[in-house]
Amino acid sequence: MRMVDLINKKKYGGALTREELDFFVSGVTDGSIPDYQTSALCMAILLKGMNDEEIAALTDLMAHSGDMIDLSEFGTLSVDKHSTGGVGDKTTLILAPLAAACGAKVAKMSGRGLGHTGGTVDKLESIPGYRTELPEEEFRRISREVGVCVIGQSGELAPADKKLYALRDVTGTVDSIPLIVSSIMSKKLAAGAHSIVLDVTVGSGAFMKTVEDAEILAKKMVTIGRACGRNMSALITDMSEPLGRAVGNALEVKEALAVLKGELEGDLKEVCLALAGEMISLSLEMTPEEGLALAKETLESGAAYEKFKEWIAAQGGDVCYVEDPSLFPAAAFSCEVIAEESGYLAAMDTEAIGNAACNLGAGRKTKADVLDMSAGIILEAKIGDKVKKGDVLATLYSEKEETLDGAAALYAGALSFSKKKVARPVLVHRIIR
Ligand code: URA
Repeated sequence: MRMVDLINKKKYGGALTREELDFFVSGVTDGSIPDYQTSALCMAILLKGMNDEEIAALTDLMAHSGDMIDLSEFGTLSVDKHSTGGVGDKTTLILAPLAAACGAKVAKMSGRGLGHTGGTVDKLESIPGYRTELPEEEFRRISREVGVCVIGQSGELAPADKKLYALRDVTGTVDSIPLIVSSIMSKKLAAGAHSIVLDVTVGSGAFMKTVEDAEILAKKMVTIGRACGRNMSALITDMSEPLGRAVGNALEVKEALAVLKGELEGDLKEVCLALAGEMISLSLEMTPEEGLALAKETLESGAAYEKFKEWIAAQGGDVCYVEDPSLFPAAAFSCEVIAEESGYLAAMDTEAIGNAACNLGAGRKTKADVLDMSAGIILEAKIGDKVKKGDVLATLYSEKEETLDGAAALYAGALSFSKKKVARPVLVHRIIR
């Protein structure tokens, strides 16, 4: 087989066979296919698409390109959640202990952030002592005894995706539905959970800009997961503004704690309850209504907060910070973004806000960048809020004073105002079961 023949076949809209896709995935994994041919095929796939059979074969082959984690010791109780990305998305910090407090097993691998989206592993590392790399035995023991363990992604999980994603990122081939489906689902299938809840985000901070596109993506992922024997459900959630009010690692941990302690209402809590309800319903085999009711009751009883503490302690984190979040170090410098006009906040360029937080030190521009855990943004106004000229729209935090002015300008430029009343965004657009 020759790679150039596969590229030409796809270039003219042909469908690749499982054998051809196997040749491609094996060659990407063992390094025998050069990056330029891999990139050319990714571009042909982006332009010509793939049918469902091709996507299913590509996903399966990518999942089997490395280790397949076996969580069968947890029977049907193991559950995972994946978000297609967002800004201020700290849902795992709330959902993982919440689902575990209800009896599910959340043995999870999470990613690091790159660019405008943050990563759960980075957020967790803002808790001093928290270990994101554990030997497999310890990962299993904590999952078994505590019900929740969250570690960084192992290098051997879907290695074909690791190589493909790195190339797609720099060749303009990220936003292809077949490539996104196979990338996400290969990792999720390899990670072993029996039930998987997908949080497919839509809006200015997400890959998917319309609910219709998000629904196509969600349905394809649900179909593939189900064909591979997993319980699947997908929620299409809003990312037309950051989720919650905090963007940045320690700031987001503090906000998640406020929800777990019952001190904070609003969009973050609502989205978490909707996702947790699905996770619980799939893993504990309840109706979605029963799952949601149990999620609410468990959050409100404080059991999810107690589970959070148990989890953090089991992974070496200093629980003093959880009990007293004022211990998290504050950034040395801050500045406020002030409203220059009165009106209703009508729209936010969420990706630009993520980039502003990244420039403050909360995110990485390259993999080698070291994060400033105290850096980030607290939003004082969200879409639908009425603001007066002179009101504070956001407060920016950083250890590097020189980043503040640029980030403040980026933030201010990311907002649009209207004189007319503006509705708040719908939080959960659709649920695909
Ligand atoms: N997240 C992934 O893991 N892969 C993609 O292709 C897009 C988002």
